[in-house]
Formats: sequence, C-alpha cells, structure tokens
Amino acid sequence: MKKQWFVTALLGVAIVASLAFAQARDNGDDQADDPVAEGSPELSTEQPIAFPHDRHAGELQIDCQYCHFSAERSSSAGIPPVATCMGCHAVIEGSENPEEVAKLRDYWERREAIPWVRIYKVSDHVQFPHMRHISAGVDCASCHGEVREMGVIQEVEQPLTMGWCVNCHIDEQASIDCAVCHY
Ligand code: HEC
Ligand code: HEC
Ligand code: HEC
Ligand code: HEC
Ligand code: HEC
Repeated sequence: MKKQWFVTALLGVAIVASLAFAQARDNGDDQADDPVAEGSPELSTEQPIAFPHDRHAGELQIDCQYCHFSAERSSSAGIPPVATCMGCHAVIEGSENPEEVAKLRDYWERREAIPWVRIYKVSDHVQFPHMRHISAGVDCASCHGEVREMGVIQEVEQPLTMGWCVNCHIDEQASIDCAVCHY
C-alpha cells in the first residue's frame, strides 16, 4: 500500500516536472528559423562550441551587428548562421583552441545548425523589440555588459525584471504603458 502511494507520488512529480520543462522549452519564439536552442535538456549553459566574444568583438573588432544582423530591424538580434563563421574559419584553424574550430567545421560539413544555448530570455507575455532600442541609440553594453571583454557568455548581466525595464523607460522618457510590453 505504502509503496503504491510512493509510486503515484513520484509519477505526479515526474508529470509536473515534464510539463514545466515543456513550458520552459516552449518559450514562444516568434521566429521559426531562430537557430538558438532554448536550453539543452540538462538546462546547462554549456555551449556546443566555446565561442570567444573577446577575440572576435574585442581583438578583431568585428562589429556586433556583422553577426547579430537583425538587431536594427527586428525584435530579435539574430544569431549568425554557420556560413558567417566559415567565411573566416574555412582558412583560420585557430592557434589556441583548434579543436573548437574543428567542431565548427564538422557542423558545416554535416550541414547542421549549431545548437547554441540561449542565455537572455524574457517571459512569453513580454515583448522586447531590439530595433526600437537600437534606433533610440541604446548601446548593446547597457543591457549586455562589456561583451567585447567576455570570453564565452555564460550569465545574464541584468535582472531582466519588469522593474529593470520600467526604470530605464522612466529615465529615458520611453513609454511605460502596460500594452507596449505586454501582449
Ligand atoms: C563573429 C560573430 C559574433 C560577433 C562579432 C558578436 N557575436 Fe554575440 N554571439 C555570437 C554567437 C555565435 C553567439 C551564440 C553563442 C553564445 O551565446 O556565446 C552570440 C551570443 C551573444 C549573446 C547571448 C545571446 C543569448 O543567448 O541570449 C549576446 C548578448 C551577444 N552575443 C552580444 C554581442 C555583442 C554586444 C557583440 C558586440 C560587442 C557581439 N555579440 C558580437 C556571435 C557573435
Ligand atoms: C571575420 C573573421 C571571423 C569570423 C566571421 C569568425 N571568426 Fe572565429 N576567429 C577568427 C580569428 C582571426 C580567430 C583567432 C584565431 C587564432 O588566434 O589563431 C578566431 C578564433 C575563434 C575561435 C578560437 C580558436 C582558437 O584557437 O583560439 C573559435 C572557437 C571561433 N573563432 C569560432 C567562431 C565561430 C563559431 C564563428 C561564427 C559565429 C566565428 N568564429 C566567426 C576570425 C573569425
Ligand atoms: C535595452 C536592452 C537591450 C539592448 C540595448 C540590447 N539588448 Fe540584446 N537582449 C535584450 C533582452 C531583454 C533580450 C531577451 C529578449 C527576448 O527574450 O525576447 C536580448 C536578447 C539578445 C540576444 C539573444 C538572441 C536574439 O536573437 O535576440 C542577442 C544575440 C542579443 N540580445 C544581442 C544584442 C546586440 C548585439 C545588441 C546591440 C546591437 C543588443 N542585444 C542590444 C536586451 C537588450
Ligand atoms: C537602458 C534603457 C532601457 C532598458 C533597460 C529597456 N528599455 Fe525599452 N526602450 C528604451 C528606449 C530609449 C526606447 C525608445 C523609446 C522611443 O523610441 O521613443 C525603448 C522602447 C521600448 C519599446 C517600444 C515602446 C513604444 O513606444 O512602442 C518597448 C516595447 C520596450 N522598450 C520594451 C522593453 C522591455 C520589455 C524591456 C526589459 C526587458 C526594456 N524595454 C528595457 C530604453 C530601455
Ligand atoms: C517596459 C516594459 C514593461 C512595462 C511598461 C510593463 N511591464 Fe509588466 N513585465 C515586464 C517584464 C519584463 C516582466 C517579466 C518579469 C519576469 O519575467 O520576471 C513583466 C511582468 C509582469 C507581470 C507578471 C509578474 C510576474 O511575477 O511575472 C505582470 C502581472 C505585469 N508585468 C503587469 C504589468 C502592468 C499592469 C503594467 C502597466 C502598469 C506593466 N506590467 C508594464 C515589462 C513591462
């Protein structure tokens, strides 16, 4: 009798957990072709390839929007397709971590998108338009920190809470009407 209870309870927990997981994964992205995975099954933040932002955006001074090509004109900033990387890495093998570049070439050969793990994400009921912020002159760094100095991005720099959004909107005299942020 006791054992049956235990099994039922366990099942319940498993169902709730899988529902929560399904919901977390279903974090409605409006772009079907967004190549960013919504968190790996283990919910780890380990990326499939250790992509160093500091080397590309810092040392090499590649413009953020060369890779995050849609920040200026769409809600999402966009993650570069493998072809963008291969424009350089077809010839650049890497002197410090060539095994990471080898992984990149493997994705390219298999014609597979890289399953990057998504870091920054607001709730489903909130809309965040990158283009409105870029055209108002808000710098990437005010929300994402000094990405030029970061190795692999692992953590969210800002709380992404409503208070964080609204405080800046008040400072910048942007709208704080509920309907601009909530559907
Ligand atoms: C050479 C291409 C490239 C350049 C240049 C680049 N990025 Fe990225 N960025 C990526 C890739 C690939 C990812 C996905 C992997 C990751 O999260 O590290 C990414 C991820 C990010 C993320 C995390 C996205 C998430 O998952 O939430 C932020 C924030 C970001 N970049 C900001 C910037 C900023 C700001 C700059 C300029 C200072 C910049 N990037 C320059 C390729 C680039
Ligand atoms: C404009 C050219 C360019 C583009 C585009 C580019 N890279 Fe790089 N990348 C480089 C250079 C140059 C290095 C430094 C190589 C070295 O130090 O030997 C580098 C280094 C790296 C490294 C570290 C390798 C090492 O040995 O330290 C990785 C991993 C990497 N790139 C992945 C990517 C990925 C993934 C993309 C696409 C999102 C990308 N790169 C886009 C030029 C580029
Ligand atoms: C006003 C704050 C703010 C500014 C400025 C900003 N971002 Fe973001 N960024 C966010 C938020 C919030 C998210 C999560 C959005 C979501 O879940 O829909 C995000 C998500 C991202 C992502 C994840 C994937 C995607 O396609 O959206 C990338 C990459 C990114 N930002 C890059 C950039 C770059 C590059 C710039 C500058 C050109 C920039 N951001 C400017 C707040 C900002
Ligand atoms: C660093 C300051 C800053 C932060 C943080 C910020 N915003 Fe904004 N936001 C602005 C500015 C500036 C504008 C442009 C106002 C304009 O175009 O008149 C804007 C515009 C907007 C708009 C368009 C408003 C309209 O009138 O149509 C939306 C929606 C929006 N932001 C949502 C958000 C959300 C959601 C967050 C938090 C996840 C956020 N913002 C965080 C500064 C910020
Ligand atoms: C500038 C953007 C912005 C504006 C304006 C805004 N919100 Fe929000 N709101 C957010 C963000 C971002 C979150 C998500 C916080 C999170 O995921 O933790 C949120 C969360 C919420 C939640 C859910 C609370 C929770 O714990 O997740 C409610 C309810 C809410 N907002 C109501 C409102 C109402 C009512 C207004 C108008 C008075 C309003 N919001 C105006 C950005 C905004």
